[in-house]
Amino acid sequence: MTDQTASPVPSSLTPEPAHPNPQGVRRVAVLTSGGDAPGMNAAIRAVVRTAASQGIEVVGVRRGFSGLHRGELQLLGPRDVANTIQRGGTILLTARSHTWRTPEGRTRGAQHLRDWNVDGLIVIGGDGSFHGAHYLQQEHGIPVIGVPGTIDNDLYGTDHTIGYFTAVETALDAVDKLRDTGASHERIFVIEVMGRHAGHIALDVAVAGGAEEVFIPEDAKDVSCVLDVVRQSVAKGKTGSIIIVAEGYPGGAQGVADAIQAGTGMETRVSILGHIQRGGSPVSSDRVLASRLGEAAVYALMEGRSDVMVGRQNHGITFIPLNDTWEKRKDVNRDLYRCAKTLSV
Ligand code: F6P
Repeated sequence: MTDQTASPVPSSLTPEPAHPNPQGVRRVAVLTSGGDAPGMNAAIRAVVRTAASQGIEVVGVRRGFSGLHRGELQLLGPRDVANTIQRGGTILLTARSHTWRTPEGRTRGAQHLRDWNVDGLIVIGGDGSFHGAHYLQQEHGIPVIGVPGTIDNDLYGTDHTIGYFTAVETALDAVDKLRDTGASHERIFVIEVMGRHAGHIALDVAVAGGAEEVFIPEDAKDVSCVLDVVRQSVAKGKTGSIIIVAEGYPGGAQGVADAIQAGTGMETRVSILGHIQRGGSPVSSDRVLASRLGEAAVYALMEGRSDVMVGRQNHGITFIPLNDTWEKRKDVNRDLYRCAKTLSV
């Protein structure tokens, strides 16, 4: 019921001024796709509420491109995203779609978007999801904007991806705990973190977790280098050693542990952190990043942009052609290698 006695809305709460909308965008769709990442809900919320501030409706697509192909669409209002900014996972659900890889699958999805009078689609995900968005735009002329959401931080054109900061915190928390037990038993712990093709998580966790050595897919160094590291660690009087391995390093953590066991006979344990790194409440850096990118994605569609990812570089918003996000390579910060080594002296 409306409170008739309420005073007028104070000026600080007046609605956002209208953003230029030369395309006359009236309705946009949003989906999450690929591996989930903490902060995806914050991004969905930002899309829905930015759109609402501009008088634009939002259609949420459930289960990523699979759901788009099947027509799983529903209107999302500002209250539908209440109490979601702090939640991990994605309220829209996600999937890795096989049907979307076929032109027929994409044609059906495009038809659903037309049936719902959608003027543009925002895709929150990683490079596989951006491929799907790119083809939709190329084949059906539907404007698409990518929002980088993956814990792996492996997308060119943005300093960080949504979910990365939280994943690093989660992995670091586990490393700290494993260090306690490892030191008590004077064992070597070889800890595997996620990153099928990228070592960003591994390098940050190695420095922040005080690891003696780190292995990443971007650097094919021979596993035997770890033998000297662990021998020296004992000679220096260390009570335990932490070795970080990105899952994409050939052989993974088990391969590194086997090499240590065979080469030194030292007591070694393996801990594979796995999908725990994809869950949990997003840390503040992921919430802020997701909020800014979700907002920017709506404005980008209104400005007539398409086939680009909104990214953040040096604190500013950037627009990167979608195909650059997978064709160009974002290198890991190799200074972290040196830093981890120097500090493990
Ligand atoms: O989201 C990216 C990622 O975390 C990779 O690092 C990992 O290899 C992959 O997801 C595993 O995902 P799934 O088990 O869902 O296929």
